[in-house]
Amino acid sequence: MTRSSRALVGYWDRQAATYDSRLAAAERRYLADSRRWVCGRARGTTLEIAIGTGANLRYYPDAVDVTGIDWSPAMLRAAHRQATQVHRAVTLHQADASALPFPAATFDTVVSTFSLCCVPDERATLIEALRVLRPGGHLLLADHVAASFWPLRALQHAVDLVSVPLQGEHYTRRPVTTLRRLGVTIEETERLTMGAFERVHARKPR
Ligand SMILES: C[S@@+](CC[C@H](N)C(=O)[O-])C[C@H]1O[C@@H](n2cnc3c(N)ncnc32)[C@H](O)[C@@H]1O
Repeated sequence: MTRSSRALVGYWDRQAATYDSRLAAAERRYLADSRRWVCGRARGTTLEIAIGTGANLRYYPDAVDVTGIDWSPAMLRAAHRQATQVHRAVTLHQADASALPFPAATFDTVVSTFSLCCVPDERATLIEALRVLRPGGHLLLADHVAASFWPLRALQHAVDLVSVPLQGEHYTRRPVTTLRRLGVTIEETERLTMGAFERVHARKPR
């Protein structure tokens, strides 16, 4: 792991204890509905990359078998506590999303919510997600993305100048564009809130 990645792990470790309480208002207003959208589409063996505090765990259907990874040990401890609270079995691993410790074609579904905005290499993370997905498997994403409303998008570019070096947080990415360039079939997309949030349901080519 590079020095800058180690610094980001430290950053997320320090966020873990207060993350849910700080985001509670945004969670209710903007995030929870996308979590329902994404998790409701998950099927079979499901890998959640960068699971954070486990905020999605309450939304998966009972039949889904969830494995979660995150590179922050403190986030994984929070996800474990959340799993206990919501009575959900989950297997957790510490791992880098751009170098997953699973063989190719392991999972029926891969989920990422609000984490492609902060992984150091979005494209490498998507390629790795597709590698561990079985052919025809579901890739389900939700994130804040570059807005379709240009004044907001201009503001996001300005915020990136500070948030990328300080927190590794990107406001102007658009994973669906990267997926299209990778030749992935997009089944469904929805953009909300001036296009600043986007949900994506993609399938790995057979
Ligand atoms: C903004 S939080 C989102 C957490 C969760 N996905 C959610 O929907 O609430 C971002 C998470 O991504 C994790 N993360 C960032 N880059 C990562 C990487 N390369 N590998 C694994 N986890 C990563 C952080 O540790 C943090 O837990």
